[in-house]
Amino acid sequence: MKKQLVLCLSILLLWNYGCRQTDKTTSDYKNAAINYEQLDLKRGENIVQTVCNSCHDPSAEKTNRIAPPLELAKRNYLAVTNTEEEFVKKMVRFIMNPTEEEAELHQDVEEYGLMDPLGYSLTDIQSVAVYIYRTELEWPEWMDEEGGQE
Ligand code: HEC
Repeated sequence: MKKQLVLCLSILLLWNYGCRQTDKTTSDYKNAAINYEQLDLKRGENIVQTVCNSCHDPSAEKTNRIAPPLELAKRNYLAVTNTEEEFVKKMVRFIMNPTEEEAELHQDVEEYGLMDPLGYSLTDIQSVAVYIYRTELEWPEWMDEEGGQE
């Protein structure tokens, strides 16, 4: 009887552990499918304008910036991906967990320091990335002069 109880408990524990392993939202973003029905591009736009642009301000002077314009990141991401899906997945991987390995703008990582994680849900960040891919963003004149790529 006691043996059975121990067995039951171990199975429960193992099962619970296994579940938590596969349900870890923190690493799910890495290969997550893009569930277009769940996305909200209006919310994506809102996050870009109120949160992202507080650092990535498209009209800030070159010498007075906290972060590069998003259009600069976009062009660099477009240059190394072939489809919307690849672009969005790559951007989501970086935003959900910014690391030097995922970063494309190495010069900016050096200049401004690595971006901090923001704590948004995967769906929100996918909405942001699809919005960025599909929208013509503003960018400052100095970017034209420099060709707009790093
Ligand atoms: C608190 C300031 C801050 C906020 C808010 C912020 N970022 Fe950033 N971001 C940075 C800095 C600094 C860099 C440049 C260094 C780097 O690449 O990590 C950066 C870089 C990036 C890059 C290029 C990463 C690369 O490959 O090097 C992308 C893409 C990006 N941000 C997207 C976003 C989006 C989208 C949002 C809003 C959801 C956002 N950021 C909000 C500071 C910020």
